[in-house]
Amino acid sequence: MGGILEHRHLGSLPQPRSGRRRGRRLIRRLVQSISRTVRRMAHRISLLADQPELIADVATMRWQEWGHPPEPEDPAWWLDATAREAGRAALPITFVASGDGAALGAVGLGQFDIEERRDLSPWVLGLIVRPDCRGTGVGLALMDHLTHWAAEAAFTAAWAATAGAEGFYSRCGWTATEKVFCASQGQTVTVLRKTLV
Ligand SMILES: CC(C)(COP(=O)(O)OP(=O)(O)OC[C@H]1O[C@@H](n2cnc3c(N)ncnc32)[C@H](O)[C@@H]1OP(=O)(O)O)[C@@H](O)C(=O)NCCC(=O)NCCS
Repeated sequence: MGGILEHRHLGSLPQPRSGRRRGRRLIRRLVQSISRTVRRMAHRISLLADQPELIADVATMRWQEWGHPPEPEDPAWWLDATAREAGRAALPITFVASGDGAALGAVGLGQFDIEERRDLSPWVLGLIVRPDCRGTGVGLALMDHLTHWAAEAAFTAAWAATAGAEGFYSRCGWTATEKVFCASQGQTVTVLRKTLV
């Protein structure tokens, strides 16, 4: 009897501050992990070659993001480039994230990207997430999918050039290797590398 009372009494003692902090941290991590799982369940990733009806959606997203000088302004150019990059087994290849029959984002892998670094290959191409879906894990899921595919296809490393998404690539495990002035974009880009094996 005394033992039970003692146990109850101990259980109601205030927890030390560090214990409460640890508890809050654990709950926060649990909530983050559940919300990541829910976000991933909300979309699927497939080859754009298997979802040709989504090519126009992806092209429009890219045109809206990049279709201004010095990049081509004609939406038809973006449609043509997106269709050309929708390979199946050989580069260039594109993966599309979709939900409710619409494209949410896409990413490609091609032999070359910036003219200044034709000595390196392959390159991430046209990574884009629909503006209203950003920050929900679609970009991360697309990059995971692409790098797994590239590793299985026996590529040992891949490269990416970006002017504004270095933080995103770092979060995905890529390492910046150099800054290069890219003439076709009229700006300096960061080149990043990811080891695949
Ligand atoms: C860059 C882009 C593809 C990211 O896609 P997204 O779906 O918004 O990214 P996610 O939601 O998967 O984010 C994954 C993680 O990266 C982080 N992140 C996303 N964008 C970031 C950025 N620009 N800088 C730093 N971190 C970033 C997120 O906070 C998240 O971190 P967490 O998991 O620790 O919370 C998207 O913002 C986009 O389409 N931007 C415009 C086009 C572009 O810049 N493309 C890259 C061209 S090379």
